[in-house]
Amino acid sequence: MTCPSSDNSGLVLRVEDLAVAAGGVEIIHGVDLTLRRGETVGVVGESGSGKSVTMLAVMRLLGTLAITRGKIEFQGRDLARLGEAELRSLRGRELAMVYQDPMTSLNPLMRVGAQVTEALLVHGVAKEEARQRCLELFRRVGIPDPERTVRAFPHEFSGGMRQRVVIAMALALRPALLIADEPTTALDVTIQQQILALVAELQQELGMTTIWVTHDLGVVARLVERVIVMYGGRIVEDAPVRDLFARPQHPYTERLLASLPNPADESRPPLAQIPGRPPAPGDHDPGCPFRPRCAQARPECTTNPPLTRRGNTRAACWVPVEEWVR
Ligand SMILES: Nc1ncnc2c1ncn2[C@@H]1O[C@H](COP(=O)(O)OP(=O)(O)OP(=O)(O)O)[C@@H](O)[C@H]1O
Ligand code: SF4
Ligand SMILES: [Mg+2]
Repeated sequence: MTCPSSDNSGLVLRVEDLAVAAGGVEIIHGVDLTLRRGETVGVVGESGSGKSVTMLAVMRLLGTLAITRGKIEFQGRDLARLGEAELRSLRGRELAMVYQDPMTSLNPLMRVGAQVTEALLVHGVAKEEARQRCLELFRRVGIPDPERTVRAFPHEFSGGMRQRVVIAMALALRPALLIADEPTTALDVTIQQQILALVAELQQELGMTTIWVTHDLGVVARLVERVIVMYGGRIVEDAPVRDLFARPQHPYTERLLASLPNPADESRPPLAQIPGRPPAPGDHDPGCPFRPRCAQARPECTTNPPLTRRGNTRAACWVPVEEWVR
C-alpha cells in the first residue's frame, strides 16, 4: 500500500474499520473516513453518537476505552499502534485538539502565557522565540494587550478569552490536523461566531486540515466543505456540504435537517427531537440501527446496511432516495 505522506492523493488521515470498546462493549463499530490536506470537515450527530470517542481515538487519548480493531493512518503512520512517547511528540506538533470546556486544557495555577510558551518549549522551540511566538499568537487570536494579558491566570479571563488561549495553544506548533470538539457550545452566540470565524481564518492561512465536531449542523454549515453524520457509533452519511443540504441520502440526515433551527433566528429555539431513542451501547440487533425511528424502513432493513457510495456521497441505507415515502 502507498504511504499517504508520499503519494499524490494529499491524504492526511485515513481511518479504516475503527472499533472502540468500553469494558468489552463495542461503542464505535467500524468507522472509515479519509481527510485530504487542507480540508475542513464537520462531524455531526446526536449526543452519544460517537463523535468525541472517534476523535479521541484519533488523538489516542481514550483513557479506559480501547481500540479493538482498525487503523488510524496519519501522514503515513498508524496511530493505533504507536507508543506513548511517539504519540506525545505528535500531539501538539502535528495533531491538536480543542475541547468544549477550555478548563480541560488549561492549568488553573499557571499564567496563560506560560502555558502557551510551555507547549512550544516542550517541542524544542528556544525560550525567547517561544515568548515572541506566544505574544504573536495572542494577537492573532484577538486577545487584547498581550504583553500584559500573558501574565493573567485563567480565572481572570472570560470563557471566550480562555477558549482563545486554548486555540492559541493548539495552533502554536502549526499542526497538520486540528480537531475542534464543540469548542464554542459553552459560549454566547456572538463569541461563538467570532471564534468560529477566527479558526476558519487561521485554518486557511496555515493550510491545516480541520475537523469540527458539533451536534448543531447550522453552526458548521458555513465553515465546512464536507459533513460526516454519525449515528449509534457509525458513520451513516459522508457528503459535500451542499449535497447534504440539497439532497440528504440517509433518512437520519433528513430528520436532522428538518429539525434545524433557522440560524438567522436570534432566539435560536432548541432542536426539535427526533422521536425514539438511538441504540444503546451493547445493543446486538443485527439490523439498521436507525430502523426503530425510520419512516422509510422496509423488511430488508433487518440487516445492517454498509456505507456505500452514491455519487459524491457515501450513505448507509438500503433504500434509494427516489423510493422514499414522502
Ligand atoms: N469513558 C467512557 N466509558 C464508557 N462509555 C463511554 C465513555 N465515553 C463515551 N462512552 C459512550 O460512548 C458513546 C459515544 O459517546 P461520545 O462521547 O463519543 O458521544 P458524542 O457523539 O460525542 O456525544 P455529545 O454530543 O454528547 O458530546 C456513548 O454511548 C457514550 O455513553
Ligand atoms: S436502511 Fe432502512 S431503516 Fe435504515 S435508514 Fe435506510 S430505510 Fe431506514
Ligand atoms: Mg462529544
